[in-house]
Amino acid sequence: MLDNFSNLTRSHRCAELELADEGKLVTVMGWVHKRRDLGGLIFIDLRDVSGILQIVIHPDNAAAFSKAEKLRNEYVVAFKGVVCPREEGNVNINMKTGQIELKAQEVFLLSDSMPLPIQLNEQALPDEDLRLTYRYLDLRRARLQEILIIRHKVMQVIRTYLNRHQFYEIETPILMKSTPEGARDYLVPSRVHPGKFYALPQSPQMVKQLLMIGGMDRYYQIAKCFRDEDLRADRQPEFTQLDLEMSFVSMEEIFELMEGLMAAIFKEVLYVELETPFVRLSYQEAMERFGCDKPDLRFGMELRDLSDIFAESEFTVFSSALTSGGVIKAISIPEAASFSRKQIDSLVDLAKHQGGKGLAYAKYQGGNLEAGISKFILEPEAKVLIKRLDAQDGDLIVFAADSYDMSCKVLAAVRNHCAELQNLIPKDTYAFAWITDFPLFQYDEELQKWEPAHHMFSLPKNEHIEWLDDPSKIGDIQGQLYDMVCNGMELSSGSIRCHRYDIQKKIFQVLGFSEEELKERFGFFLEALRYGTPPHGGIAPGLDRLVMILSNAESIRDVIAFPKTLKAADLMSGAPDEVSEVQWKELHLKPIE
Ligand code: AMO
Ligand code: AMP
Repeated sequence: MLDNFSNLTRSHRCAELELADEGKLVTVMGWVHKRRDLGGLIFIDLRDVSGILQIVIHPDNAAAFSKAEKLRNEYVVAFKGVVCPREEGNVNINMKTGQIELKAQEVFLLSDSMPLPIQLNEQALPDEDLRLTYRYLDLRRARLQEILIIRHKVMQVIRTYLNRHQFYEIETPILMKSTPEGARDYLVPSRVHPGKFYALPQSPQMVKQLLMIGGMDRYYQIAKCFRDEDLRADRQPEFTQLDLEMSFVSMEEIFELMEGLMAAIFKEVLYVELETPFVRLSYQEAMERFGCDKPDLRFGMELRDLSDIFAESEFTVFSSALTSGGVIKAISIPEAASFSRKQIDSLVDLAKHQGGKGLAYAKYQGGNLEAGISKFILEPEAKVLIKRLDAQDGDLIVFAADSYDMSCKVLAAVRNHCAELQNLIPKDTYAFAWITDFPLFQYDEELQKWEPAHHMFSLPKNEHIEWLDDPSKIGDIQGQLYDMVCNGMELSSGSIRCHRYDIQKKIFQVLGFSEEELKERFGFFLEALRYGTPPHGGIAPGLDRLVMILSNAESIRDVIAFPKTLKAADLMSGAPDEVSEVQWKELHLKPIE
């Protein structure tokens, strides 16, 4: 029999009570986390979002006791009772409310529960698909609640900070025309306009620029973005950006603003003081030293180019890489000379998985290079390379001989992998950096055309603008682009935008749009640029990724209340799902065989 809730008023949340509340008559409500029957007493761990409170029910109180006997895990109950200190031996210092307990006078059963399909009390997590199917139950876990509360705090700090910096929070449409960010669009068919579609925004990029043209000066939004792309551990089809844009702004001002924002968030949420300004690396330097444009700067193991050392090498792997225009790069992995054959083979597999041809190695032991390819390395070559790599006795040196890009890719992957393996990553460290001077375009070998390295709305560096007219220079053009990275993750991208119609048009032309396509896809935007566009720029940190870092979460799914699987499915509601024939008809659609 359920009790009537309407006469009850909650006085405290479970974990708000403390020793100072001793003697108070209070009413708490929550879920039965655990019930134990001990020495004639019943103990209930009562749980709500604030935490857990221990309730004691004494057999002298027959009515309460008989009710408490029927309580099962996850029943929803209210207790009226008096806050008491626990007896000496029963204090639990690992618990926020471990010094007190509630001596129950009355018990109210508000909701019962079927046995749960997933267990919440056990250390080992149930299968993730099952957790996602019953996400609303999984959310009762303290860890997930803690992450969502961190996410909430981050959003509050963002709003306070940006409001103070004269930003306006403005919403932009979800049903719109395609905004390209390099992924596939999610499309929504129009019922009213047969054969026509809205696209969900991949980001609010064009509209935020239009807000600048509209004179709003500084905009931000905690914006939903939708991208139909291959998903990974840090990607979701539907994710959230802190999207912002500013008029009359320089790159330096954007950096300073964002550094201040990150510092405020880390201080508020983690009580950590970030060091500002952040480290800055050019794209080229990041590639050179770390092999990737989102380097993890929490540890060393930097890449070094050894091509000059091996210019005359007779080792065919090296000489053939060099003759075909490639490079030889290497890293020295601390204390890894002791790796077994099997461990080394797994590094070679990792290299091959990245697309490399292999991974050569040599052990630096007792002052000499040994094993692997050491027999191909002459004494003077060894000396120079050990010095260049700053190798220490006991290190394992691994070499990638390949095209520049492939050598970087292989060693960047090996570097990250070995940092974990060798415990080189310090805990609770946040290594932020700005990566700048990206190329504006990248050549897509498959499509045989230029693609934007970031997106199509970024301004080239001033001194490179005229190269837009020179087809031989397109690959050399650098953009006013910047990424903010933290601990090896790309947290944000941004740029100073083309506020000039003529430059924007040239960029579209380099990307291979015909006049007709341009008019059809970007006509409204190009026209807008011609009515007095302020110079402007912006950035968009991925909120989910930021929360991952703040909460030390391994999966992006852990930081989103209702996430999708790697196959973009919502297992809880069963989306995407079929729709009725009537709906197909209304939308003027037909399935193809
Ligand atoms: P970009 O496409 O680089 O830039 O996205 C900015 C940031 O958004 C996050 N992000 C994602 N997070 C989760 N799942 C995804 N699928 C996903 N894709 C991107 C990343 C990334 O750094 N309009 C521009 C920004 C600008 O120029 O102002 C943009 O969207 O953290
Ligand atoms: P092989 O001569 O192909 O047996 O290779 C000799 C060693 O060099 C093996 O350990 C390979 O993994 C390694 N290797 C092969 N190709 C490359 C490459 N492009 N870069 C670095 N090491 C390589």
